[in-house]
Amino acid sequence: MQAEPHILELESVDSTNTYAKSHFDELPDGALVAAWEQTSGRGRLGRKWFSPPGKNLSVSLVMKNVGNPFYATVVTSLAAMELLEKNAPGLDFFLKWPNDIYSGERKISGVLCEFTQGRGGVKGVIAGVGVNINLERAEVDRIDRPATSLKALTGHHYDMKKLLRQLADSLIRYYIIYSRSPETVFAEWKRRNFVIGRRVEIEDASGAVTRVFVRDIAENGELVAERNGKTFRFNCGDVRITRESLDFRRLDGIETDSSGNPAENG
Ligand code: BTN
Repeated sequence: MQAEPHILELESVDSTNTYAKSHFDELPDGALVAAWEQTSGRGRLGRKWFSPPGKNLSVSLVMKNVGNPFYATVVTSLAAMELLEKNAPGLDFFLKWPNDIYSGERKISGVLCEFTQGRGGVKGVIAGVGVNINLERAEVDRIDRPATSLKALTGHHYDMKKLLRQLADSLIRYYIIYSRSPETVFAEWKRRNFVIGRRVEIEDASGAVTRVFVRDIAENGELVAERNGKTFRFNCGDVRITRESLDFRRLDGIETDSSGNPAENG
């Protein structure tokens, strides 16, 4: 794979993930499919992803050499974090298992990884990332879940072409680091993940909500959590950010409140 990104830039497409999947064999490893508008952008768990013309980054990375498919999420979300931090220095962004980037209680970026299948089984992964950039505050407020954009956070208007190039460079850089040292990217992703060492609510695919303490994230991406002394592993679902979980800080696996007192169980 080359350090110089191979970017296929489309004006409008249904979904960059769908496009990359259907052109998988023609696209080289590490190719990026980007679009300035998605007419049917897709999110996880069958949700829609809002991608109106010229306001957000929508990019899919073609990964033909991924030993552990979960690492497609790791590579992609670290690249999106790097982009956000470069363009909004001083703001606090965090990763939220399994695939989101948040600023406070609002989501700014999400990742959707999908397998491509051939006769011989899995051929590769399409890792799609969406980042809200120039959406106005009124537009993010119309999204059905709490959301934000770089512009809503900073008040600045961003040069989309420049940011696409930055995101492409970060995606390729993290893909190369992953190919040389998967443990390096996984360690960074874990370190930046908000949920480890915190009490959170997990909503599973059926909508059931469980309150747990998150002990760790396993190498296959499963969330390792505890409740009433029992250990549970979750491979799907959504962690809910609550005001309470934002107020607590972590300390060697023991939750404490802002004065350093251990948090109550429950
Ligand atoms: C989520 O948060 O549920 C995942 C959102 C993923 C959106 C990106 S935008 C580029 C790629 N193409 C899509 O249709 N979806 C992903």
